[in-house]
Amino acid sequence: MSQHELTVTVNGVCRRARVAARLTLVDFLRDELHLTGTHVGCEHGVCGACSVLLDGRPVRSCLLFAVQAEGAAIVTIEGLSPDPEGLGILQDSFWETHAQQCGYCTPGMLIAAHALLQRNADPSEAEIRDAISGNLCRCTGYQQIVEAVALAARRLRGVNVTEADEHGG
Ligand code: FES
Ligand code: FES
Repeated sequence: MSQHELTVTVNGVCRRARVAARLTLVDFLRDELHLTGTHVGCEHGVCGACSVLLDGRPVRSCLLFAVQAEGAAIVTIEGLSPDPEGLGILQDSFWETHAQQCGYCTPGMLIAAHALLQRNADPSEAEIRDAISGNLCRCTGYQQIVEAVALAARRLRGVNVTEADEHGG
C-alpha cells in the first residue's frame, strides 16, 4: 500500500505524518492524532457526525482521504473550546438549552453551527435550520439545537442573555 508524507495544521498545531493513501481523514484524526471528539456514524457522507472545518468550511471527514487535506488548516470539535476544560459560547448554549441527548451528533452540529455563525452573525431560524440540515440527530427533534444556535448568536453579538432571562424564569 502506498504511503505519503502529510503536513496539515490541526487546531493551530502543525502535524506531520506518513499515511496510507487510503486512510480517511476521520481515521487520521481519531486514530493517529487521538482527536476522538470527531465522531464516525454512517461513514458514507450522510449523517454529518464526522464534520470538521477544512480551511474554514465544514466538510465530512469520512469522505476525504487524509492526503487530500495536505497543506490545509483543519479545526475539529476540540479546536472550538477555549481550553481543554472550558466551553465556548456556542457549546455553553447547547448545554443551556439541552440541545444534546446521547451527544453523538453534537460535535458535527457544533461544527456546522460554528461555520454558520462565522459567516452570519444574526441568522434567522430558517437559516439555522438550513445550516444544520446536513447533520442528522436521532434524539432531540432539532428544536433545542435551533434554540441553542440562536442563543449563541445573540450572545456572540453581545446580548448577554440566558434562556431563563428570555422566558422570564
Ligand atoms: S460519518 Fe461521515 S457523514 Fe456520517
Ligand atoms: S443527541 Fe443523540 S443523535 Fe443527536
